[in-house]
Amino acid sequence: MPSLDLPPLSYAAGTAKLPGSKSISNRMLLLAAMAEGVTEIHDLLDSDDTRVMLTALASLGIGLESKGANCWRVRGAGGVFPVKQGELFMGNAGTAIRPLTAALALSGGQYRLSGVQRMHERPIGDLVDGLRQIGCDVRYAGKEGYPPLEIMPASVKLAAPIRVRGDVSSQFLTALLMALPLTSETAVIELTTELISKPYIEITLNLMARFGVQVEREGWQRFTIPGRQRYRSPGVLHVEGDASAASYFLAAGAIGGGPVRVEGVGKNSIQGDVRFADALAAMGAQIVWGENFIAASAPATGKLKAFDLDLNHIPDAAMTLAVAALFADGKSVLRNIASWRVKETDRIAAMANELRKLGATVEEGTDSLAVSPAPSLRSHVAIDTYDDHRMAMCFSLVALGGVPVRINDPGCVAKTFPHYFDAFAQITAPVIAIDGPSASGKGTVAQRVAKALGFHFLDSGALYRLTALAAMKADVSLDDEAGVAAIAATLPAEFRNDRIFLSGEDVTEAIRSEAVGNGASKIAVYPAVRAALLDRQRAFRRFPGLVADGRDMGSVVFPDAPVKVFLTASAEARALRRYKQLIEKGMPDNMRPLLQDIVKDLEARDARDAARPVAPLKQLPDADLVDTTTLNIDQAVAAVMDRVRRRLPFFNPPVA
Ligand code: DC
Repeated sequence: MPSLDLPPLSYAAGTAKLPGSKSISNRMLLLAAMAEGVTEIHDLLDSDDTRVMLTALASLGIGLESKGANCWRVRGAGGVFPVKQGELFMGNAGTAIRPLTAALALSGGQYRLSGVQRMHERPIGDLVDGLRQIGCDVRYAGKEGYPPLEIMPASVKLAAPIRVRGDVSSQFLTALLMALPLTSETAVIELTTELISKPYIEITLNLMARFGVQVEREGWQRFTIPGRQRYRSPGVLHVEGDASAASYFLAAGAIGGGPVRVEGVGKNSIQGDVRFADALAAMGAQIVWGENFIAASAPATGKLKAFDLDLNHIPDAAMTLAVAALFADGKSVLRNIASWRVKETDRIAAMANELRKLGATVEEGTDSLAVSPAPSLRSHVAIDTYDDHRMAMCFSLVALGGVPVRINDPGCVAKTFPHYFDAFAQITAPVIAIDGPSASGKGTVAQRVAKALGFHFLDSGALYRLTALAAMKADVSLDDEAGVAAIAATLPAEFRNDRIFLSGEDVTEAIRSEAVGNGASKIAVYPAVRAALLDRQRAFRRFPGLVADGRDMGSVVFPDAPVKVFLTASAEARALRRYKQLIEKGMPDNMRPLLQDIVKDLEARDARDAARPVAPLKQLPDADLVDTTTLNIDQAVAAVMDRVRRRLPFFNPPVA
């Protein structure tokens, strides 16, 4: 996809599930590969950078077995890598090339490591210097100080401490720490400079300890790995959610009202980037910390405050603050961020360029960035992303300023978060929830509104109907709540070009039969069925937006929908519509129920829907009533569009 146009957004609220942490995923994979025993890693990040690591480990002779989505079993080598020769492609994955270089330098084999062009511009000299001090044979195949690298077998002597710089990338220290236990000798590392990004070293030490290797640390200057320690698999491990990725959602909550809740990280996270939430708090955002979640909302005053912060401890999440600064009440300063210059791109320069395009005044320092917001954001700006996933994710927040923004090369998010824009849509894409009783005409109206706005459309009733039909076809009794819920959870349904398919069969008409309608009504009361369909319904929320029709769209499925409409009509009017429909369908006079019987039937159904304990049908306090008793379809559509315009003033729908 060459570019992605984000619509103007006016709010953000809801819950985001985070992908696994990149830093933890790649460290765990390498440690598991060097350990004795089998490690089962759950919730592993599935992205470009972890694929680079998995592919490399496989080619080095490590047994890897996929156990379904995001779960891998790693058969550890119990020491150095069994394959002694290889060419490894490292893409642009810093978390793969640095620690693998160190581990391979101690493996007694002959290897070549290369990457994409940008990887060959990212320094690795400090690590190579450290490895050479203990006798490793690591050579530059291209430019001195940069990949590609050639590694030869060598005999290693650990007599003197390894002296290494810590002010370019903390990953050099991480690489040495993780690899040195391969030697089984006592190893000492001394830093010759200040260490940057310290929390990443804490992740490294924490994970090494889980694999049974202890490191003695004196301040951030000297690290001793006592000898005769070996990595041993701890068995089963879970990867935390990615705290850097959490920053985009938390910032969205702070800018767009919130609350936005990220799940998968919390107050006990081992990732330093959770401290991003403190920076947001310093901007006035309201933060709630849970065991396994963090939530952010806009400041009580409504306006984010400018900040001046040293962000050395959260270099990645700090990028999100640079964009959040566009929404602050004055000039913000990001300090001590020199490492940005050697990341996926020169992030200080890239950030300055793109923020300026939006109208901000930016002062670029060698290791700092000052951002003064423009009085109003420029609209329709095309943001370049420099093949840097974080540039793409950060600048999506601009749309929350109520301006449309174009993200060039959005696919670069695949480095760490392949489904980022879907997840972002889940909390920001406008949902127009249209609930109401049966035969109120809401299905037709909702579909027309979706067409007029160019939005996606969810007919949630169809999902209940499809579940009932699938259960009937599979001979599962509609009285069997668990059985029907299991069918709902894996429903092989597809919505394509106004047609509905079940296991590939077009069932658009079949699900409208009386029998299926009655079945749907029956199974819709089961909490397990409703729960099984929840995520599926929420997944319909994608850019540019969604019109969802049903009974509980505004109350349960999309409680944070910015537009909620309760569409109804008197029972008599609805009965008359249904009666006319039956005539249109060609039902003969003698088969047709009496009008007053249809009225009674509808009234009974309304009462049942309103009385059921789960997701009862009712008009919510924040829903706009549209009574269509005296309206035709065009008028009903116009009435809903009027509510949309009033509730989404920033949104500029191409009004039909
Ligand atoms: O809107 P419909 O007639 O296609 O709905 C079919 C059945 O599913 C109906 O009995 C109500 C139920 N339903 C529900 O309980 N919740 C929804 N969001 C949508 C439909």
